[in-house]
Amino acid sequence: MKKQNISSVLRKLKLIYLADWMRFYWQQFKNRKINNNFVKENPNVKLPPDYLIYESFRINYPKYYFTSMEGAKELVGRIEKHIELKNKNILDWGCGPARIIRHFPTIVVNDCNFYGTDYNKKTIAWNIRNIENVQFNNNSLEAKLPYKDNFFDVIYGLSVLTHLSEKLHYEWFNELYRVLNKGGILLLTTQGTNFENKLTETEQRGFNNDKLIVRGNVLEGHRTYSAFHPKKFMENLFKEAEILEHIIIPVSGDWIPQDIWIVKKP
Ligand SMILES: C[S@@+](CC[C@H](N)C(=O)[O-])C[C@H]1O[C@@H](n2cnc3c(N)ncnc32)[C@H](O)[C@@H]1O
Repeated sequence: MKKQNISSVLRKLKLIYLADWMRFYWQQFKNRKINNNFVKENPNVKLPPDYLIYESFRINYPKYYFTSMEGAKELVGRIEKHIELKNKNILDWGCGPARIIRHFPTIVVNDCNFYGTDYNKKTIAWNIRNIENVQFNNNSLEAKLPYKDNFFDVIYGLSVLTHLSEKLHYEWFNELYRVLNKGGILLLTTQGTNFENKLTETEQRGFNNDKLIVRGNVLEGHRTYSAFHPKKFMENLFKEAEILEHIIIPVSGDWIPQDIWIVKKP
């Protein structure tokens, strides 16, 4: 049986959480040496508890910290192609344990203000205690943010839509659009055509008919709740906005990159 079919059976039998816990312990065990070395060599780096890293990424401390610092620089480069980062309000929507936003204050130095929001209470509590120069907020799963209309010049959400239902795609897009300023930039990542091989045959048929594919049967927002995004679905989601870029990075080895969508509020 193919891996994707096994996962669909586990999901139906409600065993996917158990499989996910086993994966957590396996990752923790597998990476123990590189993680212990990281702690010895970088005693001043504040690290979230393993489960918080796992829920949003993978338990590999050098990747959580150093590779993500490079990822944050690359992200800033992509955003700066479209907007000057000076005196701007920047939001990381679905920031998890601050993997990316924690680096922004040292990378973007031109009087910008940094914000992070996530629906996971524990991750936001950790961020508030440990990460400086970023203001954090705990939002609900539903699309509701405490910010004023047009407040942000830049909003990015890395692998957040990938954990939401179709209904919440539309509702969150509207909410993010509400708090985005005119001329502001929204950058979101999705599981596009690079992920087609991961889909079952039935899912592939839906995907090729431009339907959002959603693997539910678990709590929405959780890492095991997964959505896959055809191009036309995204274009329709963004119909009010101006699409500036749709970037598909080629698959390389084990790494399957998500699509990057950059849109502007005209
Ligand atoms: C795959 S993780 C990515 C985390 C972070 N963006 C990163 O790249 O490290 C998905 C994140 O989305 C968050 N999330 C899921 N649903 C959300 C929602 N409705 N609002 C805000 N955050 C949400 C999860 O708690 C988790 O931190």
